[in-house]
Amino acid sequence: TIKGKDLWLRMTETSNYKGIVLAGGAGSRLYPLTKVISKQLLPIYNRPMIYYPLSILINAKIKDILIITTPEDQENFKKLLGDGSQWGVKLNYSVQEKPEGIAQSLIIADKWLKSNPVVLILGDNLFFGPNLFSKIGKAINENVGATIFGYHVDDPERYGVLELDAGNNVLSIVEKPDNPASNWIATGLYIYDSNASGYARNLKKSDRGELEITELNNVYLRNNDLKAMLFDKEFSWLDTGTHETLLEASNFVKDIEEKSDRKVADLLIL
Ligand code: TTP
Repeated sequence: TIKGKDLWLRMTETSNYKGIVLAGGAGSRLYPLTKVISKQLLPIYNRPMIYYPLSILINAKIKDILIITTPEDQENFKKLLGDGSQWGVKLNYSVQEKPEGIAQSLIIADKWLKSNPVVLILGDNLFFGPNLFSKIGKAINENVGATIFGYHVDDPERYGVLELDAGNNVLSIVEKPDNPASNWIATGLYIYDSNASGYARNLKKSDRGELEITELNNVYLRNNDLKAMLFDKEFSWLDTGTHETLLEASNFVKDIEEKSDRKVADLLIL
């Protein structure tokens, strides 16, 4: 149970969420496309990939956003996105020297976060669906500890797989298991309280040399502080990191924009 004072502290936290778009990485599965350009600068139909995750944070009303890139690519991201004033937000930039894991982003961001809670989104993830922004906004407002977002896929073994009980509570999360416990996986959108950077610092590198986001989520799970919000079949989630899914994402955006007036990366400025 949460004591009165803790609850109050946590409630005041919800108004000051900052955002991180993690847009470094090796992009090795997209070679040679990514040999001289960052994956997140490649086109998804009519916009650079990073617009999609960035639009999620902006539409979730997060005003202070850190873009983490490789050292080589930072200048191009600055050229593309600037200081964010055109969208009414503040964009800041940091580098990840080597792709040493998604959870490392929280260590890189630690000073900048100044103990604020954070929404982390991966630069190659595309989300689309009914009332998406209000659902995410609600999850941010209600977050205690950590909130992750689950999605049902046919190939769970490629991701962090969620084992759920009958009430959709998370029982375990296993990274790329041989025998997945379910078809529900953790997407690249994570909400954390102000403990995330501290927890990330205590993680050990995995066999593949990364600070695993699944391990960070497992810290929250062990503390009984992790909630999963499941995106049902009305939602689309695309991880655009392979040639097939990159093309699929472009076709998806083109289809939606042709069939409706909606823009997928609805930055209200495009
Ligand atoms: P991945 O797709 O797991 O990795 P990658 O982008 O390096 O591509 P590949 O596996 O083909 O080599 O990364 C998911 C997202 O997270 C992507 O937007 C890149 C980002 N990322 C980082 O910025 N730093 C990292 O250390 C890792 C592992 C990922």
